[in-house]
Amino acid sequence: MSDGIFSGDIAANYDKTSVAMFEEAVLGPTVEFLSDLVGQDRALEFAIGTGRVALPLSARGVDVCGIEMSRSMVDQLMAKPGSERIPVTIGDMATTRVDGTFGLVYLVYNTISNLLTQQAQVECFRNAAAHLRPGGCFVVETSIPDLQRLPPGDVIRAHDVTGDHLGFDEYDIANQRLVSHHYWISDGRAQTFDSAHRYAWPAELDLMAQLAGMSLTQRWSNWHREPSPAAARRTSPSGSGRRSVGVRASDRGQHDAASYVMITVIASCTAGGQFSTRLEFGSSAVIAPEPRN
Ligand SMILES: C[S@@+](CC[C@H](N)C(=O)[O-])C[C@H]1O[C@@H](n2cnc3c(N)ncnc32)[C@H](O)[C@@H]1O
Repeated sequence: MSDGIFSGDIAANYDKTSVAMFEEAVLGPTVEFLSDLVGQDRALEFAIGTGRVALPLSARGVDVCGIEMSRSMVDQLMAKPGSERIPVTIGDMATTRVDGTFGLVYLVYNTISNLLTQQAQVECFRNAAAHLRPGGCFVVETSIPDLQRLPPGDVIRAHDVTGDHLGFDEYDIANQRLVSHHYWISDGRAQTFDSAHRYAWPAELDLMAQLAGMSLTQRWSNWHREPSPAAARRTSPSGSGRRSVGVRASDRGQHDAASYVMITVIASCTAGGQFSTRLEFGSSAVIAPEPRN
């Protein structure tokens, strides 16, 4: 299988170029959230990359496995202490199966959008459901499409213009696709990186969960469990402003159902210097398979 765009220098420099995503302020709440959800069960990360999330989760005592298409990214992971506890299968997260069942499957950092067709994204949800034990959770962290910022008729939006990086998203609205273009200088040489994505609104992801036999049980704006904007609007001004827009499957007594959690964090990559992370209008969701008869 090809490494895709996360090959060679991109893989070798991933941690350096994503340094903001490794900061405790980002990673701490992520790992806390996932570890609360998985409890004593096993976790499977789709698109595990260089182990940004899997390594600290494993260090907390969680039994973590991964699926990843890029050998170059996995080589980076395997060079790190603690990686010996994390078995990784090279393959496509939409179709690759690993042995056993899991209490948690998670797919973070907008990576669902790396699957470029609706069919592949649906397959990915089905693959997650197939790995989950009854009552397990699929957690998806992805951004809400930024289309509200695109002026009518335009197809290109700058998402990062700084001294060391320029980033532009080029939209193909009819096909729900965008290419994120990055330009930066490294060692005196101009570098570029283009990544293609298929974006989807939360409602479409919820429907994919349904097609996979799961239902949305939680949606949050970020890993701190802050509510999605819709939930915030429903919260009275005197309310805490922090409430779930969904109900955990187990709270409804559906102990044999798995669930889907969606966390929407808008994270933009500044490939030359660092990835920057903006948390804004987001939503996150937990998905669980429906009870099987
Ligand atoms: C932005 S990185 C995220 C890596 C890691 N999850 C993290 O949070 O740092 C995206 C990763 O997804 C992997 N990837 C993209 N499409 C994939 C697919 N269809 N199956 C498995 N891995 C995939 C890439 O190779 C890359 O390692």
